[in-house]
Amino acid sequence: MSRPNRFSEVKFIIRGEPDPILPTDATKPASRHCLVSNRPLARALFLGLVVFALVFVCRNIVQLRPSPQVLVPIIPDEPPVPRQPPLYDEYYLNEERLPQHDPNLPFPEGRTGRYINMENFVITSGWGNAMQELLLDAHVAYKSGRSFVFYPYTWNLDGSNSSQYGDHLIPSRIPLTAILAGPVVGQLFPDQNQPTPRAVIKTYFDKVCPRPTVISTHNISDHLENDATAKRILDAWTDKLNIIADNCVTIDRASSEQIFTFWVFGAAERILPIWPSFSTSPVLTHFRWSHLIHRAFNANVHLFSSVPYLALMRSLGPSLPPLLKDTYPHLIPSKYIYAPLPDLLVLHVRRGDFVDHCNGLSNWGSMWNGFNRFPEFLDKFALPPGYTPDGSEAPPHARAHYLKHCFPSIPQIVEKIADVLKDPANGGLKYVYVMTNGDRGWVQELKEALGGMEDGKRWQKIATRRDLELDWEQTFVSQAVDMLIGQRAQVFIGNGFSSMTSNIVTLRMANGFDPSSNRFW
Ligand SMILES: *[C@@H]1O[C@H](CO)[C@@H](O)[C@H](O)[C@H]1NC(C)=O
Ligand SMILES: *[C@@H]1O[C@H](CO)[C@@H](O)[C@H](O)[C@H]1NC(C)=O
Repeated sequence: MSRPNRFSEVKFIIRGEPDPILPTDATKPASRHCLVSNRPLARALFLGLVVFALVFVCRNIVQLRPSPQVLVPIIPDEPPVPRQPPLYDEYYLNEERLPQHDPNLPFPEGRTGRYINMENFVITSGWGNAMQELLLDAHVAYKSGRSFVFYPYTWNLDGSNSSQYGDHLIPSRIPLTAILAGPVVGQLFPDQNQPTPRAVIKTYFDKVCPRPTVISTHNISDHLENDATAKRILDAWTDKLNIIADNCVTIDRASSEQIFTFWVFGAAERILPIWPSFSTSPVLTHFRWSHLIHRAFNANVHLFSSVPYLALMRSLGPSLPPLLKDTYPHLIPSKYIYAPLPDLLVLHVRRGDFVDHCNGLSNWGSMWNGFNRFPEFLDKFALPPGYTPDGSEAPPHARAHYLKHCFPSIPQIVEKIADVLKDPANGGLKYVYVMTNGDRGWVQELKEALGGMEDGKRWQKIATRRDLELDWEQTFVSQAVDMLIGQRAQVFIGNGFSSMTSNIVTLRMANGFDPSSNRFW
């Protein structure tokens, strides 16, 4: 005898995501209506179909939203759980389990290994700023032959789980392994002839280094010129870290600044001299995003890829390019993993209150970030003629000049794209993906303007950040998903004043993309 009610009572939610994606109520009316006859055989067949359909739908939802989520039955009518930001507990647990967290390992790891714990990492800062610092700090550790102690990406150090940001809650910290993989977060380094100790977490450092030598960035920076280049800063630190006999060194937060300050990143003549060293560092050559980010990319690839059927095939397993596997062997260079996506144009357009930031930049006469100023780039930024900034309000012509490059209007965006399309190398572009925090109305207007371009029929797809389907954990690291898409674009048009853009440009340059494929408003 079949008992349909037993099944129709079961509800599913995706843990941590109380929105009723799968209201099984949908099956209830059917069972009440004339679709089901009274004959037992027909009832059994119908029930079989319903169960099959339910299982099929559930499986597909799980596959399309592939994060460490579990389908759990809940008691019907349980009140919804308030939507707190995710805690990413599993990532912390996996970090604790890294094999290098073993004091018995031989030198240069274990209790006789050498470590550098940089407690002075930036907080309350966007991922773009945090990431540029993180990669260079990890490079200093690599060059000094010391194990890099990595911390969560931290908004707030007060021990809370979440912080208010504007009108919503964000995680106070996110384990770095939810965003990145690779040597920065403890994977093996590629060069086995010259073993480099793997990165470790702070609790392990505390175990092997109960009494580290504590140093301030002033111990170094006070002996350098005010305009020292990043290369000189790197050399000064590696010299110092080599001289210190103690295997355990902590850079103290309270008395320190950043090793590479905002000023260094802002000045091309200071940051670019580190490029020959940085671009060949495993930190960049073997850079990787986390499996969480790879899965978000795969789940949305149909929005920006030239192979639409992959959207349907992705559940068969991510083995076909341009899809990404969860992990890659440590020896594979980044450039083979994040190969260019042909025909894709990615735009980075900051909106919202960024206009205030742009106006501030115009008052101070700021230049583009250093990594947005490789000499090979086609687009360069210069002050408008006759403008001598002094911090007071910029005259209208200077302000307009800054807004064009920093906060372009829709006609200015369209004009720039038309210009980029004039390059024969860019003739095949047919997908546009827009990294933007713009509101729905603005995004719609932009889409229409792109479609209405003289050459607008070329666009087979125009997608934006708002079109991405992300699970709850991916939602709070969506900048990294955007960066991965931008990193692989055939052509990228970014904001020269943005560290988000300059990180993308850094990854593209390190992976050997044609410099002329990096453009700026
Ligand atoms: C953070 O969340 C965990 C898990 O829900 C909880 O046990 C802990 O008390 C929370 N911490 C704070 C400071 O709210
Ligand atoms: C850092 O500088 C202070 C003040 O000059 C000095 O006392 C201390 O020994 C230095 N620390 C290291 C590790 O060089």
